[in-house]
Amino acid sequence: MKVILLTCLCLSAALALPGKSQLRPTIRTRDESNLLVVGGSDAIPHAHPYQVTLQYPGSNGYAHFCGGSIISPNKVVTAGHCIDIGIPITSLRVVAGDHDLSKNEGTEQVSFWKSAVSHPNFDLENIDWDYGVITVATNFTFNEYVQPVYLADKEIVPSGICTATGWGYSTPDGNLPNILQKIELPYVERTTCTDIYRSIAWGITERMICAGGQRTKGVCDGDSGGALVCEGVRGTYLAGINSYVMPRCGENEYPDGFANVAFGRDWLLSN
Ligand SMILES: *[C@@H]1O[C@H](CO)[C@@H](O)[C@H](O)[C@H]1NC(C)=O
Repeated sequence: MKVILLTCLCLSAALALPGKSQLRPTIRTRDESNLLVVGGSDAIPHAHPYQVTLQYPGSNGYAHFCGGSIISPNKVVTAGHCIDIGIPITSLRVVAGDHDLSKNEGTEQVSFWKSAVSHPNFDLENIDWDYGVITVATNFTFNEYVQPVYLADKEIVPSGICTATGWGYSTPDGNLPNILQKIELPYVERTTCTDIYRSIAWGITERMICAGGQRTKGVCDGDSGGALVCEGVRGTYLAGINSYVMPRCGENEYPDGFANVAFGRDWLLSN
């Protein structure tokens, strides 16, 4: 068992949380070797009106630490680990309608923590059941800039190209764009993803879905909790919650891991 865990540690997936000095979400957007933009790009302003930034007060004011998605006027879906691993969650604020974190664009709506819950089965070691729900104190007002997203239901089988969003590094070591980044990632079938992850102790569970897996493209540290949306016949739906990556992001063929929204839907809606 210990050997497996050790092996697992060497190969273990990293939470898509920022490091101590990296208080921004990250979508890897550049090929480190030549600094060409090969991955994500600036999102079209307010094209992802469900995406929020979760922030807590630091020494230089509020700092981003995770993303989330609005599902109703007072509920935001995020990763369980955004709530559960040491962030002072009660001082949390949620900003909706943001695009450029460095500017006040007049479209932002700020609401504060009222309560937050991570899934009772949340398992940090295996990054399983990585579901969280935040209730905000003041309801968001839906408009052109702030909108809820539809949660995938069990009838939906994701396919095709999906889109992940977050504010993040353009390289793992610096260059924080303040502009929301988006990246298109192909959905990876569970069987394919399970095969790729076979050497990792816990593999892929029903609570996880996979997307991406191409070198230089993917989500990265700090994107946790943010949205993976796909397009279905009835429109855009939230298929995944940004959960983990294999380090270093964008430098291996492991698809990125997302909490499976269709599987967690009932719990997400009842909290
Ligand atoms: C806020 O939204 C919730 C959920 O839709 C609703 O039940 C509640 O009445 C709203 N509160 C206010 C003050 O509008």
